Amino acid sequence: MIKKITIDQLKPGMYVADLNNQWVPKSNASRSGLIKYQSTIDKVRALGVQEIYIDTDKGVDCPDGIPVDAVKQLQAEQFRSISVQSGTRASVRTSVEAERERAHKLYGQTKNLIGGILEDIKQGKSVDAEAVDNSAADLVSSLDANENALACLSYIRSKDEYLLEHSINVGLLMGIFARSKRMDNDLTRQLVAGGLLHDIGKILVPDEILNKPGKLTPEEWEEMKRHVSYGEQILDVTPGLSDVTRSICALHHERLDGSGYPRNLPKDQITQVGRMSAICDVYDAVTADRVYHVGMAPNEALKKLIEWSIFHLDKDLVYDFIRCLSVYPVGTLVELSNGRAGVIVEANRRQPKLPLVRVFFNTRHQHQVETHLLNLADAKVEVEIINTLDARALGIDIRPFM
Ligand SMILES: [Fe+2]
Repeated sequence: MIKKITIDQLKPGMYVADLNNQWVPKSNASRSGLIKYQSTIDKVRALGVQEIYIDTDKGVDCPDGIPVDAVKQLQAEQFRSISVQSGTRASVRTSVEAERERAHKLYGQTKNLIGGILEDIKQGKSVDAEAVDNSAADLVSSLDANENALACLSYIRSKDEYLLEHSINVGLLMGIFARSKRMDNDLTRQLVAGGLLHDIGKILVPDEILNKPGKLTPEEWEEMKRHVSYGEQILDVTPGLSDVTRSICALHHERLDGSGYPRNLPKDQITQVGRMSAICDVYDAVTADRVYHVGMAPNEALKKLIEWSIFHLDKDLVYDFIRCLSVYPVGTLVELSNGRAGVIVEANRRQPKLPLVRVFFNTRHQHQVETHLLNLADAKVEVEIINTLDARALGIDIRPFM
């Protein structure tokens, strides 16, 4: 049986089924295996892990552990409770279809800008803060017209452009999150810029460490973590950036239980913006496909955020984030009551269970059908979501339908 236990309950002889630390996209330890020594437990603790899943069929049992089914049921209940709460209305002035072209152009331009900045840094040149600010302003303008257009594009990504796409996606998520919290134009732009630049220091981490498919040595892991300090050093000498933008780079890996890096800051020293950046960073990292791991489905990732908010992330902000992306976020593959499946292309914050779906699959006969848009919020549409599906497990590539 798989059980969830705390780090204090972990003993030699137990078999770890999942270290439950996918928020570290590239862990310096395996995520499963038999615990032979106390020293291994110390290493797990040093990673900031607080709760672990063990397999009691493969190792010593922990009578006080919670069976995984009970954990999942509790998570499902918490998730359901959020699904009936509507969030603040997203300011949609344009349809997602109408905003698509501008969003596409802006996404491409931002990619070129950030790609250019990363190259410049490698060559010792400085960051053009004004260009970043202008780009952030354009992105905010598109998000305000219809945030779903850019959100859809953030799902069309390639494994080898991770750093670039992750930077843009965190910028977009910060913008969507900021607007849902009714932050003003200036602050929202600063948050987007912070997202765009939060991982900029990674360009100074040697390629063989940054893109290493296997386990990192302890020294390599320390170097990897230094990307935050490298980023801070770069942004410190960049004129024209706000303190808020800089703080996102400094704080995105800090955790509320003090287990984060680089400063192991306690809760009261991690600002609201810093906490928001941690949530956006983790969400985008765990949903992305990487060379060495398959990304989680969006709504599964949201459930994981709830689990990690027990120790690491700000619980209230995680709930706000879920309400803002909606329990069925853009990019979720859903099964419908009419025997069809499709991907969500526009979330519905007010009525989370009634998003706009691009239908493309017949679930009864397991084949593709002609694509069409179905607005579940339309009173004439008597179709509902009956399940979420794991596109990757089913071997379905949703990107063409985004
Ligand atoms: Fe980072």
